[in-house]
Amino acid sequence: METIGVIGAGQMGAGIAQVAAQAGYRVLLSDRDIALAEKGKAGIAKRLGLAVEKGKATASDAEAALGRIETVGDYAAFGEAILVIEAATEREEIKRAIFAEVGKAMGGDAILATNTSSIPITRLAQAAPDAGRFMGVHFFNPVPVMKPIELIRGLATSNETVSRVETFAKKLGKEVVHANDAPGFIVNRVLMPLINEAIFALGEGVANVRDIDTAVSLGLNHPMGPLTLADFIGLDTCLEITRVLLEGTGDPKFRPAPLMVKYVEAGWYGRKTKRGFYDYSGAEPVPTR
Ligand code: 3HC
Repeated sequence: METIGVIGAGQMGAGIAQVAAQAGYRVLLSDRDIALAEKGKAGIAKRLGLAVEKGKATASDAEAALGRIETVGDYAAFGEAILVIEAATEREEIKRAIFAEVGKAMGGDAILATNTSSIPITRLAQAAPDAGRFMGVHFFNPVPVMKPIELIRGLATSNETVSRVETFAKKLGKEVVHANDAPGFIVNRVLMPLINEAIFALGEGVANVRDIDTAVSLGLNHPMGPLTLADFIGLDTCLEITRVLLEGTGDPKFRPAPLMVKYVEAGWYGRKTKRGFYDYSGAEPVPTR
């Protein structure tokens, strides 16, 4: 059984650990400390339990998948991993520190991949143990549901690295797309202007939260309206990516909507803080404007 290391047991890391374990890999799941890794694993257990209840997975398959996930408190065991995926907080200095640390434990042939949604891969590669065995592997939230994976190679990434990661992604049952190391890659380059424009429209009084979301969701047949989706992703993350698009392209069309900046300054990040364009403190989200 091949071993995969996952760094970060939050929404994305736990999702990645889950799909890798369900695809038959042994998964080492880590976070800042073992308690956080265990919290991530408990969330996976809950989601697998729901899948069993719905008849989408058998109890024995779910139990076996969960059994393949081991929480770890440090990177010592990561020497056994053929691939390590970093899905930690979207801050460059945090990722760089992780790469330096995990690099000491990783085997000479192992690949390090980052789930960054916006930081340039070629720049991050400078902190990796080997730029040839480093690349971007961008999953979407919620990971078990969303089909695509963007694969992003840095300037020094080897063909072998891309091909090995592509094989892994396909084993997870994902649809692989290749993107160049350009700001926002593909999906966020297209998505963030949509979200940003919806926030401009709200700020300029074109319509209220409910009507913008209802119109776009039904009018474009999207599962969520753009303001609901912004709350789901996190407004802090949306702002971060929009700024990367602006800085990376120099194109003013990517300037963040003032209302998005204000909400982030207020600490209204969306679902995770219970307040964004909706209020999540009750049983159902309530629009706030
Ligand atoms: N983890 C695992 N599975 C989940 C889940 C989660 N967090 N949330 C929902 N699901 C599953 C449900 O169990 C259900 O599975 P089933 O069909 O097997 O029963 C299925 O998804 C549908 O869920 P629900 O019926 O509860 O609710 P919805 O039909 O409203 O679907 C949704 C929820 C899948 C989140 C859907 O609203 C959706 O697709 N929204 C858009 C999500 C999106 O655009 N994601 C991309 C964000 S951008 C990104 O990630 C990039 C980053 O860099 C910013």
